[in-house]
Amino acid sequence: MQLTKRQQKLRALESSRNSAKKSNPTSYVNQAPFRYAERNFKSRSPPPDMTEVFDFANMDGNADVIKKRIVEVKLKSDLRGLCSLFGDSEETWRDQWDRAYVIKGVPGLVVIPNPFSPPAQRHLVRRCLRVHARHPNLSNLDTHYNMPLQGLWELVEREWRGNLKESDKDYFVSLKNIDTGGENGDSVYDEEEKDYPRQPDISSSPSLNDSQHATTPTLKLDPLPSPTVPVLSPRQLIRKLRWITLGYQYHWATKTYHLNRRVAFPEDVGDIATAVVKAVEGVGLDEEGWRNDYAGDDFRPQAGVINYYQLRDALMGHVDQSELNMQAPLVSVSLGHDCIYLMGGPTRDTKPVALRLRSGDIVVMTGESRTCFHGVPRILENTLPGHLAPEYWTHAETSEQVPDDDWRIFGEYISEARINLNVRQVFDREVGM
Ligand code: OGA
Ligand code: MN
Repeated sequence: MQLTKRQQKLRALESSRNSAKKSNPTSYVNQAPFRYAERNFKSRSPPPDMTEVFDFANMDGNADVIKKRIVEVKLKSDLRGLCSLFGDSEETWRDQWDRAYVIKGVPGLVVIPNPFSPPAQRHLVRRCLRVHARHPNLSNLDTHYNMPLQGLWELVEREWRGNLKESDKDYFVSLKNIDTGGENGDSVYDEEEKDYPRQPDISSSPSLNDSQHATTPTLKLDPLPSPTVPVLSPRQLIRKLRWITLGYQYHWATKTYHLNRRVAFPEDVGDIATAVVKAVEGVGLDEEGWRNDYAGDDFRPQAGVINYYQLRDALMGHVDQSELNMQAPLVSVSLGHDCIYLMGGPTRDTKPVALRLRSGDIVVMTGESRTCFHGVPRILENTLPGHLAPEYWTHAETSEQVPDDDWRIFGEYISEARINLNVRQVFDREVGM
């Protein structure tokens, strides 16, 4: 994009103003360390200070203060043996199948550098768009649009292939009727960013408030459609998809689960999460006195969220505390563009660590870290791995890497996005329907 002279001038002015503000401590005098870090990574002009970011795929590139805090640990089991979705036939993979990392000063957090093969990553991206992002799973779009039962992605594919035209009756997904006044569902969105409904009112108190628990018998009203959402083509609308929920559907307004809206948890996602929980059993850091002792056999994948981030989206700092079982680890998988992931403490007053997460990386929040503030202030542009690019096979190195005929369309989507898949156990054990 070419900037005009005037635009360039304005940019320069904005940048120098922001730098001055940043270097002036009084402008952030009351800013909690977590917020300060969020602001740093959100900033575009000037660009964020990246000197203290943990990068597990480029150990030598880490600053000394960071290197000193990384401790390599061994997983209990080979992820590839636990779930066919892991693994790579490449020799180079052999020596790292059981490798993970923990961080000094961040008890409970375990990072598993990408254990997925490129085809497995593509498979997951496809599933997240075509299979999981549709009825009966709820998405942010369901509030405002009459989402097609076969899923929005089917329309995206038809439009992309030229088989769905503006003149076709199912081209525009229709808006929900607005027949009630009062509060509308959008009021809970953060004004500053296209963030998620749960964040603005999450208290910084580490104590668990009963009203946030899953069993509280609150009246769960569905949010009302907004009168201002636009009518869009399928390919435009898919860019507005922010989240879908898996298993027990989540009611964002009360931060509780809908006990009467339970969808079967998808097997592939459940298998990944269960394999990961089994693999991190016993992982810990003796010198800091913690160890994850949650038994993998006790883990039940019961609820999940898939987050879909466009390049300028962010997820503000929050604690996931709606689950009754707060002992079970929470498993979180990254796909697509890299991001900056902040992991803080029980309040925003703890300075968070910043991790660079890449496609395939898995973060596991066990023990103490399970009740800590975390968020994603930044998606990093130009970080899409070649094997997810729309034209990835054009630089395939082996004859085995044949083109997936329909990858291009998923590749187009992910070339401007990051997907995060996270899985939680809600109850202690299985509960009846
Ligand atoms: C969440 C979450 C983190 C991510 O959905 O609760 O923290 O990596 N996601 O996107
Ligand atoms: Mn979270």
